[in-house]
Amino acid sequence: MPVPTIVSNSEPYSMRGAQVTRNVGGLVAAFEPLLRKNGGNWVAFGSGLKKNKIVTFPSEKEKFCLHRLALKRNEYGMYYYGFSNRVLWPLCHQFSEKCSFIIEYWQGYKNVNRKFANYIARIKGQETVWIQDFHFSLVPAMIRKMKPALKLMFFWHIPWPSPSVFAILPWRRQILEGLLGSDLLAFHTQEFVDNFILSVVRILPGAVVNGNSITYKSHKTELKAIPIGIDYRNYRSMAELKQTANMAEKQRLSLGSNKIILAVDRLDYTKGILRRLWAFEYFLDTYPEWRGKVSLLQIATPSREGVSEYRRLKMEIDRTIGRFEGKFGTPSWKPIFYFYRKFSAKQLTAFYRMADVALLTPLFDGWNMVASEYVASQVDGNGTLILSEFAGASSFFKEAFICNPYDTAQVASYIAAALKLPAAKKRLRMEAMRKKIEEHDVFEWMKKNLSVLKERP
Ligand code: G6P
Repeated sequence: MPVPTIVSNSEPYSMRGAQVTRNVGGLVAAFEPLLRKNGGNWVAFGSGLKKNKIVTFPSEKEKFCLHRLALKRNEYGMYYYGFSNRVLWPLCHQFSEKCSFIIEYWQGYKNVNRKFANYIARIKGQETVWIQDFHFSLVPAMIRKMKPALKLMFFWHIPWPSPSVFAILPWRRQILEGLLGSDLLAFHTQEFVDNFILSVVRILPGAVVNGNSITYKSHKTELKAIPIGIDYRNYRSMAELKQTANMAEKQRLSLGSNKIILAVDRLDYTKGILRRLWAFEYFLDTYPEWRGKVSLLQIATPSREGVSEYRRLKMEIDRTIGRFEGKFGTPSWKPIFYFYRKFSAKQLTAFYRMADVALLTPLFDGWNMVASEYVASQVDGNGTLILSEFAGASSFFKEAFICNPYDTAQVASYIAAALKLPAAKKRLRMEAMRKKIEEHDVFEWMKKNLSVLKERP
C-alpha cells in the first residue's frame, strides 16, 4: 500500500526563506521519515504564503511533496482562531462556557475544509488519505463525495466530550456527518470512542451502530481506540547523552532547591495550570517542612495568543505567581521558577531527566505527550509521575500517581507521597511505564492505524 497522503493543520517544517527546520512532535517524527523514504504527499496550511506552494524533497523511491496551502489572513482567522480554537477546542474539552458560537467562524471553517478537500481530491496516485485532528472534521465527507474509491482515515487527537456536551453545538450534525465520511475514525481512548458513538446515536437517528462500527447513509466507518506513542528511542538516547546529564546537573544547581517538581504545558486553560499552582500552595501550607527544600519549575509554551482567553489566562498566571512568591519566597529560596517560552527538545529532555516529580494535571486532555516524554527521558528511573485522571494517557500509565486535578488536597498529598517514595519503588513504577512506551511507540501507533484498513474485506 503506498504511503497515505497526510493532512494536518501544522506543517512538518518551519520555513524561513531557504532555511528548512524539522518541527518537533510525535506526528512529524512518525510521518516525515516515512515520506522521506518512500515518497508521498503531505498537505498542510502554508504559513505566510500568498499562493499555494509545493515543496519537493528527494526520496529513495518517489518524490515527497509537501503541499503548502495558502489561506488569507481573515480566512485563517475564522477557521483556526475562530471555529477550531473558540468552538471545537473548548467544546471537546468540556469548557462549553468558553465557546463562541459565531456563524462567521462556522462559515470560515467550512470554506477552509472545502478548500483542503478540493485540493486533496485532485492529488494524483494516492490510495489513502490520513487526516489529522479537529481542524478538518468536514473534509472526509467532502472528499468521499468527489472520490468514493479513496480510503479515508481520520485521527481525532483531542477528547470527544460526553454526548450532552457535544449536543450543545449548533453545527453538531454537520460535524458528525463530516467525520462519518471516513473509513477509519480513531481516538486515543475507548472512552472517547464511546462518547462519539453516543453522540451519533443521539444526533443522527438514521445511523446504525454495530459494536465499534457505524453505518450511515450506506457508508461504514470503523471506530477504534489507538493510544498514541512517541519516538521513544530518540528521547531515550537524547536523555542518555553525557551532555544531557551535565545540562541536567547544571540546571539543578542553578535552581538551588534540592527537589524539583516539573510541569510543562502549552499555556492553555485545559492544562489546569492555575489549579496546579493552588495545589502547590496548599502543599506548602500543609507540609511546611518542605518549604525551602522543593521548587516547582513551570514551563508554559506560548500558544494561540490570537485568542483572548489565552492572553487573559497568561495575565492570571503572572499574577498568581507574583502573589505566590510574595507569600513564600525567601532570600535563599524560590518556590516557583516560571518560564513563558519555548525550549528545544534537548533542553526539555534535560529538565525531564533532572526532575524528581512531573506534575501533569490537565483538566481534560486527549493524551498528554509530556507524560510520555518524561517517562522516556527517565533513564535513571529516579522520577515519579503524578498524572491527571482526565488525561488520555492515564488509561495507559497506570503505575503513575493518578490524581483528580480538582481535588487540591489530594494533589498536595500525592506531591508529599511522591517526594518521599523510596528509590526502589520509584524505579519499579518507572520501569513498568518505560517498558510499555517502548513497545507502543509512535511507529507502532502508525502501523496499527494503517493495519485497520488493510484487514478490512
Ligand atoms: C493539540 C492538538 C494538535 C495541535 C497542538 C498544538 O495537541 O491536538 O492538533 O497541533 O495542540 O496546537 P497549535 O494550535 O499550537 O497548533
